[in-house]
Amino acid sequence: GLPSEIFAPRKNSAGIEFGDRRALDHFLAARDRTGREPIAATCGFKGADAKGPVDIRSPVDGVLVGRSHHLSASGAKALVTEAARHVRAAEAVPAASRATWLRKTADLMERRQGAFMGLLAREAGKTVDDGIAEIREAVDFLRFYAAEAERLFAEPTLLPGPTGEENRLRYRSRGVAICISPWNFPLAIFTGQVAAALAAGNVVIAKPAEQTPLVASLAVDLLHEAGFPAHGLFLAPGDGEAGAALVSHDATAVVAFTGSTETAFAINRALAARNAPIAPLIAETGGINGLVVDATALPEQVADDVVMSAFRSAGQRCSALRVLYVQEDVADRMIEMIAGAAAELVVGDPHDLSTDVGPVIDAEQHAMLTSHIERMEQSQTVRFRGRLGDDLPSKGHWFAPHIVELDKPEALELDEVCDSIERTGFGLTLGVHSRIDETVKTVAERLTVGNIYVNRNIIGAIVGSQPFGGSGLSGTGPKAGGPNYVARFAREQVTSVNT
Ligand code: NAD
Ligand code: ALA
Repeated sequence: GLPSEIFAPRKNSAGIEFGDRRALDHFLAARDRTGREPIAATCGFKGADAKGPVDIRSPVDGVLVGRSHHLSASGAKALVTEAARHVRAAEAVPAASRATWLRKTADLMERRQGAFMGLLAREAGKTVDDGIAEIREAVDFLRFYAAEAERLFAEPTLLPGPTGEENRLRYRSRGVAICISPWNFPLAIFTGQVAAALAAGNVVIAKPAEQTPLVASLAVDLLHEAGFPAHGLFLAPGDGEAGAALVSHDATAVVAFTGSTETAFAINRALAARNAPIAPLIAETGGINGLVVDATALPEQVADDVVMSAFRSAGQRCSALRVLYVQEDVADRMIEMIAGAAAELVVGDPHDLSTDVGPVIDAEQHAMLTSHIERMEQSQTVRFRGRLGDDLPSKGHWFAPHIVELDKPEALELDEVCDSIERTGFGLTLGVHSRIDETVKTVAERLTVGNIYVNRNIIGAIVGSQPFGGSGLSGTGPKAGGPNYVARFAREQVTSVNT
């Protein structure tokens, strides 16, 4: 059916209008008031044992943003045991109330978006553009899943009864849902997972990435303020050790995970090793995302879209462009244009409106990127190396954009390009820039990626319009922001009555 038939009418968040100077100033003032005093992220269940507080330092300048009371493995286990005590109470909350609370959270988040921006910038190094987009996405998830709670849970669905029996299908909560999220969308992905799990009536344990527990803590505060009881949603600050303990508990009934493929495998194994009922895993992981450009593409648009897809959010999106395949005849000119566009990017303090690329998240990612480029330099041709300004804070994790031309034995035909993409095993995003319908069709048919973008950039999927998520090594689905997501957090029950 048409989207209007699947989903209830809903408007996506408007964000901040840059042309409206007063609104922008108000927003930036609120941003700059936030995070001046160090804040704390603590677990909602006081009985859970935490390790000593961990300092959360800004990737921009190394200044302390707050402290996280990371759960120990035994603390995480105790938390799941506690959450399991509240499963019946959570399911007893009508879907209409859950939807109301999710919408109220969305309203509060929009009203306090300056404060969220403050933490997104200080804790995660997000530029204003990226921060606004991320807050909008979080708000959209809240409203979208509120509508999904109503659509799926309001009334049982009457199914055909050929034998004269009355058959009704209804959705019920699963129990304890564990949501584990990454640092690259510390608000949008965190909020999306949690909102869907709550929409389905579960008791939710929300474990943010160890690098970004503070903005997550602010989001949990809002959900509580909007109506979700303290025993229906618990923040679980912690690292991988806490995450592993949460998913290996026998009472864990469903897991939503976004992060690396290796961790998704580890969680899958941990769930399977339990002597407990089978719990579904929704995993969204990385991608080696390609963009295929032929000679019919518009060079200026390609240059814009490549720079946006590869370097926006400091290249740290899972959806980001990794490998560009350009038809040989136009390759040199195209790469020159792309390098020209990339040279315009300003790498710097994300608080400045003129900054395009903020810092990478931490020293570990910085070291990984540095050694990757060093390795590349040994055998490949670096076609572009961005520059860093002189006055950047020395403790920031700055990394300039790079473009590397990969040595290839011979020119590839379109089919071979598809083979090469398929061989990676990943299937998250893919772009095609071509005015030839047949090319677009061939690529779309051949590849099993989750999100295909034609003649545009390959990032920034819109909730409800471009459900997001991949297959193969990129994840299990169902797609976030799509019609099947909330249902995965629920179980189905059919009652057949002999009338
Ligand atoms: P990561 O897998 O190391 O960490 C992600 C989360 O998993 C963190 O909260 C971490 O504490 C937790 N974790 C780590 N080990 C665990 C374990 N054994 N059991 C349970 N939880 C554990 O990933 P990362 O490198 O921090 O995150 C970036 C990755 O996320 C990239 O690969 C990126 O492509 C991917 N990503 C995917 C999507 C998507 O929608 N497909 C979106 C954003 C990011
Ligand atoms: N959903 C994010 C994007 O599409 C990851 O870029």
